[in-house]
Amino acid sequence: MKMKIAVRYQSRGGNTKAAAELIAKAAGVTAESVDVPISEPVDLLFIGGGVYAWDIDKELKAYLAGLNPETVGAAAAFSTAGGMNGAKKIAAVLKTRGINVREEMLALRLLARNHTMLGGKGAGVTLSDKETKTVEDFVSKMIA
Ligand SMILES: Cc1cc2nc3c(=O)[nH]c(=O)nc-3n(C[C@H](O)[C@H](O)[C@H](O)COP(=O)(O)O)c2cc1C
Repeated sequence: MKMKIAVRYQSRGGNTKAAAELIAKAAGVTAESVDVPISEPVDLLFIGGGVYAWDIDKELKAYLAGLNPETVGAAAAFSTAGGMNGAKKIAAVLKTRGINVREEMLALRLLARNHTMLGGKGAGVTLSDKETKTVEDFVSKMIA
């Protein structure tokens, strides 16, 4: 049977959204922000966010806290944080919720490439070919 996959992201500046959209494309689904609840149980949830002042966003935290472990077969965490591994932070919260987290995570260091605070336009982040390949390889491994 076909694996049921969902992609959710929290993104202030667009980096994580761009990564999420690539993940979703590679997985054949649509990426949604954490504003959109999971409507039906999934086998695999790709869940990502940035790190802001040493922590993940509170909206993302609330989303993780509200996830029903019975609707998530497994989670694959990803992050675009500048230096810290945001995916590890996400995974740690998921584990406390009793959600099965895939060992491998995706940590793309996109820095504040497009953040409005630093002159970016807050939209239209483009990943390099190398970054795109990294994302695609991650997805292939997760759904293999
Ligand atoms: C206000 C602010 C604070 C940040 N603090 C951290 C931090 O403490 N650690 C880190 O690794 N990255 C930090 N970053 C980098 C972001 O995590 C990184 O730019 C990420 O790609 C943002 O994702 P987004 O564009 O989807 O919001 C910070 C960025 C901003 C704008």
